[in-house]
Amino acid sequence: MKIQIINGPNLNLLGKRETSIYGNESFETFFEQLKTRFPAIELHYYQSNVEGELVNKLHEVGFSFDGIILNAGAYTHTSVALHDAIAGIKTPVIEVHISNVYSREEFRHKSLITSKCVGLITGFGLEGYAMAIGYLSV
Ligand code: DQA
Repeated sequence: MKIQIINGPNLNLLGKRETSIYGNESFETFFEQLKTRFPAIELHYYQSNVEGELVNKLHEVGFSFDGIILNAGAYTHTSVALHDAIAGIKTPVIEVHISNVYSREEFRHKSLITSKCVGLITGFGLEGYAMAIGYLSV
């Protein structure tokens, strides 16, 4: 089974950025733990701050991988292009947010991508990515 994790803008700063919201751990460190926790799954990780590069990655993996876990960061709330990319591919996409977007500013309550995703995991910290892998691997 092949699963692609895609992180969007500013998520390269995890561990340094607004640590009271996003925690102290870098995604690279967490990703190493994920690979140990799910040895039977081929896990891939990609991060970009550029909207079009996220679209390109969805196209690249979206017809061959078994699942995509997408934290689109702030583009979640703005990107028709990501909505359309998810709609256009075959691989199921799970939307993940580290923080609980519904307990934060109102502009984070709207997602342009949820309607095209299998489901949404929000507010469970980095563990949300593991929950998504757990769902995809059953
Ligand atoms: C986020 C929530 C978004 O609103 C925000 O723009 C992010 C991170 C999260 O993982 O909680 O960059 O997607």
